[in-house]
Amino acid sequence: MLIEPLAPARIDAAVALWTYILRELARRGTRDDAPHHARRHGPLEPAVSDTLGVVLRVLEPADAGSLLELELRNRVPWRATGPLRAEHWFTLQAQRRRLEDEARDREEGRALAFGVFTAGTLTGRVALGNIVRGPFQNAYLGYGIDERHAGRGIGTAAVCEAIEVAWAEGLHRVQAAVSPSNVASKRVLEKAGFRREGLALRYLRLDGRWTDQELWAITVEDVRR
Ligand SMILES: CC(C)(COP(=O)(O)OP(=O)(O)OC[C@H]1O[C@@H](n2cnc3c(N)ncnc32)[C@H](O)[C@@H]1OP(=O)(O)O)[C@@H](O)C(=O)NCCC(=O)NCCS
Repeated sequence: MLIEPLAPARIDAAVALWTYILRELARRGTRDDAPHHARRHGPLEPAVSDTLGVVLRVLEPADAGSLLELELRNRVPWRATGPLRAEHWFTLQAQRRRLEDEARDREEGRALAFGVFTAGTLTGRVALGNIVRGPFQNAYLGYGIDERHAGRGIGTAAVCEAIEVAWAEGLHRVQAAVSPSNVASKRVLEKAGFRREGLALRYLRLDGRWTDQELWAITVEDVRR
């Protein structure tokens, strides 16, 4: 029988998954009895890490200042990949409100958003959004890495860890929409094991206009054979 060696990133991801599961089981206690929609996602301990020292952590109200700085620094590079932002978005008040909304979504099982930290610094964001249960068991992935830290593998590590969280949450599929011209993001998805499924026309309204998007996806079978 031929056994293919696991890539180091996959080994790290598997270790991260078990760390996450054990912490969550200890923290939640009754987790296995709770239906998916009733599971609670309170503030997590630094949940997952890999050899790059990339840690995903749920942001708390005290992180609003760092989050604002991240948004301000990346206002231009992230512009083409998100909704048109009003000036108010770049205020402490709006970022506090955003964290409150994220906490509510987490509590209600709709989304799981994380800060991406390296050496204790907030260097990006990754989120499993629009979580749908029932027969779909799918989340939509979004992410952004601080331009100052780009090209060091942080985006790929964060995406790998986020999908391990998705599997730990019992999801079956994670999908991402990416602009055809966003070569770096497509490379991240490719490295994390996603496959391109096709091109969706006029799919997302980004920076104020409807854009075609490539749809990429991964299902749990791709990593747990
Ligand atoms: C896309 C993004 C998350 C990548 O983060 P990152 O930390 O730089 O990603 P990584 O370092 O893990 O990997 C980037 C890969 O893209 C490659 N890449 C970057 N720019 C590239 C370009 N212009 N042409 C070809 N490849 C490019 C890098 O070489 C690297 O691949 P490699 O490891 O094979 O060399 C980051 O650039 C970002 O936040 N962009 C703006 C927001 C965004 O696009 N979000 C995703 C929306 S779908």
